[in-house]
Amino acid sequence: MLGQDLLACVRREGVAVTGLARRDLDVTVAAAVRHAFQLARPDVVVNCAAWTAVDDAEAHEAEAWAVNGRGPANIAAACAADGARLVQISTDYVFDGTALRPYAEDAGPAPRTAYGRTKLAGEQAVLGELGDACYVVRTAWLYGAHGPNFVRTMIRLERQRPAVDVVDDQHGQPTWTVDVARQIIALIQSGAAPGIYHATSSGQTTWCGLAREVFRLVGADPARVRAIASSALDRPARRPANSVLGHDRWALAGIAPIGGWQVALRAALPRLVAAETGGSPG
Ligand SMILES: NC(=O)c1ccc[n+]([C@@H]2O[C@H](COP(=O)([O-])OP(=O)(O)OC[C@H]3O[C@@H](n4cnc5c(N)ncnc54)[C@H](OP(=O)(O)O)[C@@H]3O)[C@@H](O)[C@H]2O)c1
Repeated sequence: MLGQDLLACVRREGVAVTGLARRDLDVTVAAAVRHAFQLARPDVVVNCAAWTAVDDAEAHEAEAWAVNGRGPANIAAACAADGARLVQISTDYVFDGTALRPYAEDAGPAPRTAYGRTKLAGEQAVLGELGDACYVVRTAWLYGAHGPNFVRTMIRLERQRPAVDVVDDQHGQPTWTVDVARQIIALIQSGAAPGIYHATSSGQTTWCGLAREVFRLVGADPARVRAIASSALDRPARRPANSVLGHDRWALAGIAPIGGWQVALRAALPRLVAAETGGSPG
């Protein structure tokens, strides 16, 4: 989902770029990563590949770790050998989700899920290998045209059901993949200080608040979205109550953070509706 929007945004910049799907490169295989580097000879690598099935990771942590921990380690080693810079994409799940304020970039990670542990392993691998030659870009609550996601699900359910129940006790920043792509490009082009950056929209809401905004934007009654508690859903992986990330490091880099989540959602919606319904974004 993020990788495809990033590719499109980089192409619009007129920069030569190679996009590799899993069928082109399995990041868990070090020799395959080295071979891909020999072919592409990259100056910069952005690793969007991940095991993103949060619930499945609980029962398959070793497999998730291979993709989210060993994969970035393989890519970082190849970057170190070839002098390439790396952008590793990470997640709010590295935090425990219990804080009462936004998580700063240097807040202590304490993942509570298998997915979070494996993603933290990926962060540590790239920072350990590359230090000054890498960025870790954490994002959260992503939606985009190229993949299943919560916003697309709400667009579909609004058409199918009279009412939907959505949790109202998890807080986060709904974030458009195109905004993250633009943020990654700005980071690479700026030569900003290496380290951790948080690429999420500004403001915050709950999943219920997001669903109601989707309904409102498509002209439906937001009251058709009913608030429920997370405890009503029995899911293998515990969801963070607070996924809100702080954005202070962007100012130090001289880059504006992503704007408010409602503005982004309004801009993205025609593409998401088109992706969901097979129509044209107009
Ligand atoms: N989605 C979110 O809300 C969210 C939130 C926070 C952070 N993130 C992070 O953002 C990044 C992008 O997420 P996304 O939502 O765009 O994920 P996505 O749509 O699930 O894309 C992940 C991609 O990685 C590929 N992949 C899986 N295993 C691989 C392997 N061994 N080798 C090469 N490629 C492999 C997948 O291929 P297949 O499709 O063939 O499996 C898929 O194309 C990830 O680092 C994720 O952890 C996402």
